[in-house]
Amino acid sequence: MTIYLNGQYLPIEEAKVSVLDRGFIFGDGVYEVIPVYSRRAFRLEEHLRRLQHSLDGIKLANPHSNAEWAHIIGELVARNPSEDQYLYLHITRGVARRDHAFPNPPVAPTVFAMTNPLPAPPAELLHSGIACITAPDNRWLRCDIKSIALLPNVLLRQMAVDAGCAETILIRPDPVTGDGFMTEGAASNIFVVKNGTLLAPPKDNLMLPGITYDVVLELAAADGIPHEVRRIAAAEVFAADELLLTSSTKEVLAITRLDGKPVGTGKPGAMFARLHALYQDFKRDVMRG
Ligand code: PDD
Repeated sequence: MTIYLNGQYLPIEEAKVSVLDRGFIFGDGVYEVIPVYSRRAFRLEEHLRRLQHSLDGIKLANPHSNAEWAHIIGELVARNPSEDQYLYLHITRGVARRDHAFPNPPVAPTVFAMTNPLPAPPAELLHSGIACITAPDNRWLRCDIKSIALLPNVLLRQMAVDAGCAETILIRPDPVTGDGFMTEGAASNIFVVKNGTLLAPPKDNLMLPGITYDVVLELAAADGIPHEVRRIAAAEVFAADELLLTSSTKEVLAITRLDGKPVGTGKPGAMFARLHALYQDFKRDVMRG
């Protein structure tokens, strides 16, 4: 496997980063995950825009123009074997003596990229859906930044795995009323379906603005599917007809069990079938160019 590190394309075994890297010491960096289909990066412009938002959020200058990113990504994809890949970009504030404050003067950021094969979600998952649990969202208040400091997300996802489930749906208490509302998954966005309407939480500071989330809402709008973007109460999640999960690596999946109980009929529903089909068509059209 060939990776990219600070201007060089290297076998992964030869890629080395200093123990003083601020990514290693502080988790001081941001990342992106971009799906690549038939060797073409999906929604590259949107992913690079979100990367810029994350970099701005941690006050780190973007080391590359979009044209440079496109070149690095193109090279890396070409140097790796799979047609469909999932591409990981990672930028840290670089290597410096340990001090919480930013290095002054700034040091060169560490820029790392790798790709892995991206298998299509197994047919079994599409047929049966996935099981999820819920847990309190105990993350910070800048979940719109795609930070590499993912310990809360790691612990929240592991809770699901320990319960034999695929993902944890996060519930945050309203600071005023104390009522719970849904933000997203530990590494995914979540949609609720009720009475034929697709409900999505707003893209605020409490969730990652998913690229797949945007595609799903655009497809819903174009296909005349009733949809609303608004805060979703925890009670609405538990009373949903359907729940859907989206991410760059999982695309669109049906959640058919929540906290050990069936969601709706307990089978992937009509909204899932419609959006999944629209998503596959959209992907095919985009990849054809
Ligand atoms: N995660 N919310 C969180 C917290 C995420 O980590 C992700 C994606 C999403 C979905 O965003 P998108 O549709 O742009 O992939 C939402 C990636 C896949 C990861 O960390 O591996």
